[in-house]
Amino acid sequence: MAKKTGRGTLTAAGGKLDIVVELNGKDVAMRVAPGEYLLDALRREGYKGTKRGCDNGDCGTCTVLLDGKPVLSCMMFAAQAHRRQVTTIEGLGAPDRPHPIQQAFVEAGAVQCGFCIPGMVLATKALLDEEPDPDERAVRRALDGNLCRCTGYVKQVEAALLAARKLKAAKGGR
Ligand code: FES
Ligand code: FES
Repeated sequence: MAKKTGRGTLTAAGGKLDIVVELNGKDVAMRVAPGEYLLDALRREGYKGTKRGCDNGDCGTCTVLLDGKPVLSCMMFAAQAHRRQVTTIEGLGAPDRPHPIQQAFVEAGAVQCGFCIPGMVLATKALLDEEPDPDERAVRRALDGNLCRCTGYVKQVEAALLAARKLKAAKGGR
């Protein structure tokens, strides 16, 4: 069975939906249940950097970017990501080649247990893509949906501001 959507045709087989997600820059085909959440589909596919905290829309640990904007993957259906761009933390960097935002979080001492960090880093990326030179207030607003049980949030705000300076320097700014 095939169903037309605004973003192409969704095919269904055995009660599941065949979707294609542009995941970290590559088209990835997934077979998902109609009511399956994006968080579950991502983790099943091996993208374990997307963390399950509250599973209830409250903590931000499951944050991914959907077409560049932060979304809570525990609150949206996987099928809603069909033919859209999803970025998980695996799409930013790796331990041997960290993204400047990840580097900034480490350098600022913002990482303790690390559980909240993928969501924090992705929320920071969305902010800096839109506002490369944010003030502290803008950073706090951008991160206010991301809870951390280890820190007092000060280091993470410093990390986001450091990341902004690093990205600016990399582009030749000061
Ligand atoms: S796991 Fe999604 S908001 Fe907490
Ligand atoms: S560093 Fe542990 S939850 Fe944030």
